[in-house]
Amino acid sequence: MKITETERRELEDIYSFFFNDEKVQKMKDIPMHRGSNTFNHSFLVAKVAIKRGLRHRRVNLKSILIASILHDYYLYDWRRDRNKLKRHGKNHPYIAAKNAKADFDITEEVQKIIQAHMWPINFREFPRTKEARIVNLADDHVALKEALTSKRYKKRRDEKITKNIQKLF
Ligand SMILES: [Fe+2]
Ligand SMILES: [Fe+2]
Repeated sequence: MKITETERRELEDIYSFFFNDEKVQKMKDIPMHRGSNTFNHSFLVAKVAIKRGLRHRRVNLKSILIASILHDYYLYDWRRDRNKLKRHGKNHPYIAAKNAKADFDITEEVQKIIQAHMWPINFREFPRTKEARIVNLADDHVALKEALTSKRYKKRRDEKITKNIQKLF
């Protein structure tokens, strides 16, 4: 999919809006696989998803972008919260979608993409649209990469990611 310079700039602006938002920055305190955090993870997913979205014809890149950034916007540490631990895999997409709606008034399409990002773990939420499938797979891709990084390389990885996620393009 070809996009104009204006569209490109619009996506970059949305990206920096969320990147610099105080509430979104709270995701830095929420740990993820292998010492990563949900902030780095989500912005990486956004970059991967946009890159893949651009290979398709006619997809809503804005929805892909916003859903990727907010797909793990659940804002609790499931390893510390015993009540949440058990059903985190299935529940956190709903919590993230709810928080995102409350804080950023996202569209229904974006909510649905967020809710379907854990399919097939949450089997009921099948990613029905191209946009939802792109985000679902981008999330798997980044999560796998994070899981495969050994602790020895963690520091170097974090430095690389921090540099890499400054900008969308
Ligand atoms: Fe997630
Ligand atoms: Fe994720």
